[in-house]
Amino acid sequence: MPDCILAMDQGTTSSRAIVFDLNGDIVAVAQQEFRQIFPADGWVEHDANEIWDTSIKTAQAAFNEAEAKGFTVKAIGITNQRETSVLWERDGVKPVHNAIVWQDRRTAGVCQRLKDEGHEFEVQDKTGLLLDPYFSATKLAWLLENEHGVRAHAAAGKLAWGTIDSFLIAKLTGGKRHVTDATNASRTSLFNIRTQEWDESLLRIFGVPENVLPEVLDSCADFGETTADLFGRSIPILGVAGDQQAATVGQCCFEEGAIKSTYGTGCFVLMNTGENLVPSKNRLLTTVAYRIGGKATYALEGSIFIAGAAVQWLRDGIKVLDHARDSEALARQAGDDHGVYMVPAFTGLGAPHWDPHVRAALFGMTRATGRAEIVRATLESVCFQTHDLFSAMAEDGISPKVLRVDGGMVANDWLAQMLANLLALPVDRPKVMETTALGAAYLAGLQAGLYSGFSDLTAQWQRERRFVPAGGFGQREAMLGKWYKAVAAARSFA
Ligand code: G3P
Repeated sequence: MPDCILAMDQGTTSSRAIVFDLNGDIVAVAQQEFRQIFPADGWVEHDANEIWDTSIKTAQAAFNEAEAKGFTVKAIGITNQRETSVLWERDGVKPVHNAIVWQDRRTAGVCQRLKDEGHEFEVQDKTGLLLDPYFSATKLAWLLENEHGVRAHAAAGKLAWGTIDSFLIAKLTGGKRHVTDATNASRTSLFNIRTQEWDESLLRIFGVPENVLPEVLDSCADFGETTADLFGRSIPILGVAGDQQAATVGQCCFEEGAIKSTYGTGCFVLMNTGENLVPSKNRLLTTVAYRIGGKATYALEGSIFIAGAAVQWLRDGIKVLDHARDSEALARQAGDDHGVYMVPAFTGLGAPHWDPHVRAALFGMTRATGRAEIVRATLESVCFQTHDLFSAMAEDGISPKVLRVDGGMVANDWLAQMLANLLALPVDRPKVMETTALGAAYLAGLQAGLYSGFSDLTAQWQRERRFVPAGGFGQREAMLGKWYKAVAAARSFA
């Protein structure tokens, strides 16, 4: 019976489970969307119980399908939306509140206060992150401050906190393990990425007690075994990484300088910087790409909060699209000179602006503006934002030669080509587009000894298509000029 690995990919809008064989080919897939909860302007929550339900149901469905096909699932890898915070009762692993999602802006005021008090330098120096509501620490602090009785309950040792990986592991192991990996820890603002430990001074700054935090393990490690009732036998959880770091592994960006960009709910560009912790002078993030054998490999990251989520808004919010896949044909219908610009700041702007107050806007509409133009402007805004990240990287002295892309949006050839044109860089799309889940499977497979090292993985990476930059330089500059104006106008409106 051939061996295979189950990857649980808990994303912002859906929970997915994919079983891969050892060649990295997909054996079984299951996916379920869950509710997005918007209790107030800028607030975004998920019901942690729904996260668990959809995660375990999809995992069981993919597991059963793979085993019915004659495969044996040897290990589980977990990858997850990062920063999203869950606080639960240790007894029974019961969430005490909805998960506060990475996109949530409710702690913008706290971040501003901490900046005013002069804490940003220490936070950036130790964690590689900036003071922004995006990261977990202020979300946890908010729960401790605002939920009745929670702080006292935490002080009594009754509560555990974690990012989604940590919560899922607690559930999968029947409450036996309270652990996370170094990539997820590196997104909390509480973890010193130099010493690879929770940092006492940061805990004080954010007002967070250490006893609620999980133990931090390598990305390839023994995270515990699932309770036997879930899959009919215990399966070891052997790999964990935040989804963007997992995609970096799935894209085999193991060399220093290798760079990938993933287009999911948001868009996240990560460049491997090896053992060097490279601080950005241009408001990019320094983060842990993976930690294996106790050794951290670092990355420079640009984070864009809204990419696929803007297309989801076109489909579900204003119903301009029936299906996200229709966006390619519509974008092709709009003329090059359509003149419409979207700033998709539905949850503020991430790198390099870090402005939690700005909100989304559409500029340049006429009576001739229709669905095609709005859809094209939305897709273009994703490319413009990626361009801004690359400009910040260039100012940090980094100029990549090629970009590896993945995520649902880049199945769209038009978008991939526009990206190459705007970045003036070849864009490579891999054969296996499920790089996030694949990365989690690879990490678990490495720990299980199913792969001997990175070279086994690199040998599997295949390009499906390269998009080579085309189009006039003048047109590109004119479009970028309008984009900058649109961003400035949206920011001044906030
Ligand atoms: O940092 C947030 C990120 O992990 C979310 O990823 O795939 O849900 O856009 P995604």
